[in-house]
Order: sequence, then structure tokens, then C-alpha cells
Amino acid sequence: LKINKSDIVAVAVKPAQYPPDDMPEIAFAGRSNVGKSSLLNLLTGRRKLARVSGSPGKTRTINFYLVNDDFRIVDLPGYGYAKVSKSTTAGWGDMMELYFDNRQGLRKVIQLVDARHEPTKLDVQMYDYLRHYGLDGIVVATKADKISKRELQKNISVIRKTLGLSGDDKVIPISALKRTGQEELMEEIEKILEG
Ligand code: GTP
Ligand code: MG
Repeated sequence: LKINKSDIVAVAVKPAQYPPDDMPEIAFAGRSNVGKSSLLNLLTGRRKLARVSGSPGKTRTINFYLVNDDFRIVDLPGYGYAKVSKSTTAGWGDMMELYFDNRQGLRKVIQLVDARHEPTKLDVQMYDYLRHYGLDGIVVATKADKISKRELQKNISVIRKTLGLSGDDKVIPISALKRTGQEELMEEIEKILEG
């Protein structure tokens, strides 16, 4: 699967703002600052498609990107950012539930975790939530360039254990900085779209 074309088609906080539910969607979830927007830019080969920032909590909307005119990648708002107010946090839960509950085209949610650390409580909650919806199965370990190969191997088994992954579930290490790991993820995305 090669991405030839990508464009933002909607920025939504409620279902009325979603694009029509007429094609497959693959969403990215993860805590604020984990690298969702960077991964999107890596996959599409467009450096500035999704906004990347040093200050966490940038993406507070559900952003829909049309890819090759035949599927969408959806950048979900990050969770776990301490400086976001309580009312904003409540809004986040409602926003996710409305999207997961009512989206026929949603095929899979790829969960991003930081390759350097054990998944947080919120990461575990998020993954359980995906399991509940049957949208689990693919985890991306981001910022893999920040640790050694050896540490990465060790951390991947911690990630597997903490999230309770089964043998079929995938953990794919990726570095948006070094531009590595995206081929394996694209293969998985291709399988999902064909399946
Ligand atoms: P929110 O939109 O705030 O939820 O964040 P996000 O998950 O979209 O993260 P974003 O892509 O904006 O990246 C956050 C920070 O991490 C930025 O400073 C990125 O440059 C950095 N970053 C992302 N991916 C990588 C990576 O693979 N390697 C390294 N070294 N830094 C990365
Ligand atoms: Mg973002």
C-alpha cells in the first residue's frame, strides 16, 4: 500500500461535523504528546499535514484525513494531559464514545504508546476500551529512536504484558524522526482494509 494522496477533510467535536460514514477508517489513539500527528505525517509523507507540537494537548478535535480517495486516517484527541480542565476531560470521553458507537466505517484503532516507558494506567484503560469495542490488536511503540535496540526489545515485552496482548496482537516500533517502522504498519493497514 502506497499513499499517493492525503488531505484533511474534517475537524470535528461532534458527529454532525464528521464526513459521511461511507468509507473505511483507521484511527490513532494515544496519550497527548505520544506522537500521533507525527506518525500520520510519516505515513503520508507530508511533513505538515497534521500539526506537531512541543506543547502537549494540541489535537483536541477528531481530525479526519482522506487517503488515496479510498480510506480515512483519523487522528483522535490525546488523553492524559494534566493541564486540560475537568470539563474538557469529560468532553473527551463523550467525544470518543460518540465516535466509536456510531461509526460503521471504523475498522481498527491503532493504539500508540511511548517505546521508552511502561504503558500508563490511562494507556491500559484505553486499550481495554478498544478491546470492548473489538477495535484492538495493533499497538505502535513510538519514539523508538530514543532507546537502544536492546532496551526496545525489553520494553516491547513489558508493553505486551502490561496491555495484556495475545500472540496475534502486534507491537510495531516506529520512529518518526528516523523514519523507520512505517512499512510494517502500512502492511497491517493494508490487511485491515482488505479484510
Ligand atoms: P497531541 O496532539 O498533543 O495529542 O500530541 P501527538 O500525539 O499528536 O504528538 P506529536 O506528533 O505532536 O509529537 C509530540 C512531540 O514528540 C513532538 O515534539 C515530536 O517532534 C516528538 N516526536 C514524535 N514522534 C517522535 C519520534 O519518533 N522520535 C522522536 N525523537 N520524537 C518524536
Ligand atoms: Mg496531535
